[in-house]
Amino acid sequence: MDPRLHLLFSRRSVRRFTAEPVNHQEIEALLQAGMAAPSASNVRPWHLVTVTNRSTLAALAEAHPNGKMTAHAAVAIVVCGDPVASPRYWVQDCSAVTENILLAATALGLGSVWLGCHPNTDREVAIRAALGIPEQIGVLSLIAIGRPAEHPSARTQYDEARDHRERW
Ligand SMILES: Cc1cc2nc3c(=O)[nH]c(=O)nc-3n(C[C@H](O)[C@H](O)[C@H](O)COP(=O)(O)O)c2cc1C
Repeated sequence: MDPRLHLLFSRRSVRRFTAEPVNHQEIEALLQAGMAAPSASNVRPWHLVTVTNRSTLAALAEAHPNGKMTAHAAVAIVVCGDPVASPRYWVQDCSAVTENILLAATALGLGSVWLGCHPNTDREVAIRAALGIPEQIGVLSLIAIGRPAEHPSARTQYDEARDHRERW
């Protein structure tokens, strides 16, 4: 692992959080990082819904079948996309936003986990209902963020068998 890429390798899914809050500047930094993502034709079809209210976090935890940790997170960011703005690429664009937020959280010493939503319609419907998101807006991911109560090791998952040089 190249030490210059340590930040990237140390991004791991964190599913247990302490009760310590995340401050306003940190949330601002996460949103800045998310919206720095690349997007097709720079359309930026994303909308980010940030939640710190404890009962709304609990509602999000209920809305996602694998999202129980969201109830104990300090903040959740729901990455949404507008399929009208970018019919072909909103999913990729919003995935780039999600990864940027995970990397920024790592850089700030926060723990985070990507909880997949789209194309699971049931998850999208439940999260839209919890947050008042318009029906035509896609819900790409729910990111639970907080101070980490577990510290998975940095690692690469480099796999020679999937590394094809010059030709497959
Ligand atoms: C599209 C997507 C959906 C995911 N959904 C979930 C999920 O519903 N619940 C969860 O605990 N982790 C979820 N994850 C996190 C993966 O389980 C995790 O990234 C993977 O096991 C590799 O571990 P790492 O993130 O620590 O490198 C998701 C990740 C991606 C990219």
